[in-house]
Amino acid sequence: MAGDGGRRRGGRRGEGREEGKERRRRNGNTEEAGNVSGRGRSGAGRRPVSKDPMMSHASRVRSGRGDAPVLEEEKVDIAVQMSRFWEAVVGVQQQREALRLRRFAYSKDIILHDLTGPGCIPDYRLGVRDSEKSLVGFIAAVPGPHCAGNPEASSAVPMVEINFLCVTSHLRNQGMAPLLIKEITRRVNVNGTFQAIYTAGVPVTAPVCVANYYHRTLNALKLLETEFTYCPPRMSQREFVGRYRMPSTPRLTGFRPMTKKDMPQAQDLLQTYLRQFRFHPEVSKRSFQHKFKHSPGVTQTYVIERDGAVVGFGSFYTVDTQVLQHSKHSVIRAAYLHHCCVADGYGLTRTDMMRDLLIAASASGHDVFNSLNIADNEEFLDTLRFGRGNGKLYYYVFNWKWGAPATARDVAVVLV
Ligand SMILES: CC(C)(COP(=O)(O)OP(=O)(O)OC[C@H]1O[C@@H](n2cnc3c(N)ncnc32)[C@H](O)[C@@H]1OP(=O)(O)O)[C@@H](O)C(=O)NCCC(=O)NCCS
Repeated sequence: MAGDGGRRRGGRRGEGREEGKERRRRNGNTEEAGNVSGRGRSGAGRRPVSKDPMMSHASRVRSGRGDAPVLEEEKVDIAVQMSRFWEAVVGVQQQREALRLRRFAYSKDIILHDLTGPGCIPDYRLGVRDSEKSLVGFIAAVPGPHCAGNPEASSAVPMVEINFLCVTSHLRNQGMAPLLIKEITRRVNVNGTFQAIYTAGVPVTAPVCVANYYHRTLNALKLLETEFTYCPPRMSQREFVGRYRMPSTPRLTGFRPMTKKDMPQAQDLLQTYLRQFRFHPEVSKRSFQHKFKHSPGVTQTYVIERDGAVVGFGSFYTVDTQVLQHSKHSVIRAAYLHHCCVADGYGLTRTDMMRDLLIAASASGHDVFNSLNIADNEEFLDTLRFGRGNGKLYYYVFNWKWGAPATARDVAVVLV
């Protein structure tokens, strides 16, 4: 924190770590618990000290503003609290854009979709509120087995996906993130799971691999007007727009949104494809039905059907980016690739399938299509005019020993 002599891990302003420990040892946590009563509340509002480790850790985290409230842990009831969580995420995500021209706007629907699938556990949605009941920190774990490509253990390992870690801006750099991570780890461990996968846009520790984001312009004019992209030198705006113009209808025979009856075949096709890669999810029937259900605005999933057989599968999810301070546009709608695969023997390529996914994304109002260069995605990126972006994605696996070093090509895992 600026002007605070750097990062503090709890304790009082100007107080050394050991002094702080000693004070807490002397007082137990009672003094801290007294502060739960918060700003403008008297001792009458005191609450008992929690035995919950999260509570006792959390009560040591201070906002660094004099008598600012200590924090209390709360299990976020996803259905009821979602809108407030969303506000917190938006507030946090805004900080990521140095220029404040844009901010991520994960819809409530996609967060809800990701955090409430089969096997999801309410205890794994962990929010921290301040004494004014504002959500100031959040982390979630979503159970799902993954094959983590260790030669000694080729079968799927029970894991959780850690996602939506965020801390409100005025409590950053005070050790809240490790606290949330520690507590979610404890909760997951209690249920007998000891491995986790997570991704981050920044280096945190040694990653399994690093992937790059690639972007395919769909609505060129809008992306130029919002300065999301730039026209290369020696190319007119007209040429640029023409270069990325998409046909209005898909080209492949049998390409259409996936229905419930396609699901068993589509799941087989996808799982067979995913198993080629060292690090991939094992998608159960129920997870597949939840995760890939065609539901525009959240996830769009398409198949190619030939003679009653599902021979192509492709899916993407939607995340909006709010455009700030712009007179004409308020949102850029981005499609993010989940997976795309085709069956052998039908003369189809993944590039064909991806081309139709781009057309479907464009026709359903997406302005840009994003893909990572993981798995074998490199095979279509150039051909379909994806451009390499600045963003990187670091993949981490917690508590898991990898055999040989991995590259992005070994990974077929996409977290929302
Ligand atoms: C990511 C975020 C929660 C970190 O909070 P913070 O207040 O800056 O970090 P804290 O001071 O609490 O903790 C710092 C520690 O957390 C770790 N950390 C930071 N970002 C992390 C991440 N994305 N995943 C895991 N650990 C992370 C750091 O390595 C650091 O550990 P160290 O002290 O041992 O070096 C915060 O910046 C945020 O909310 N960002 C916006 C949302 C976001 O980008 N979330 C991450 C999605 S991947």
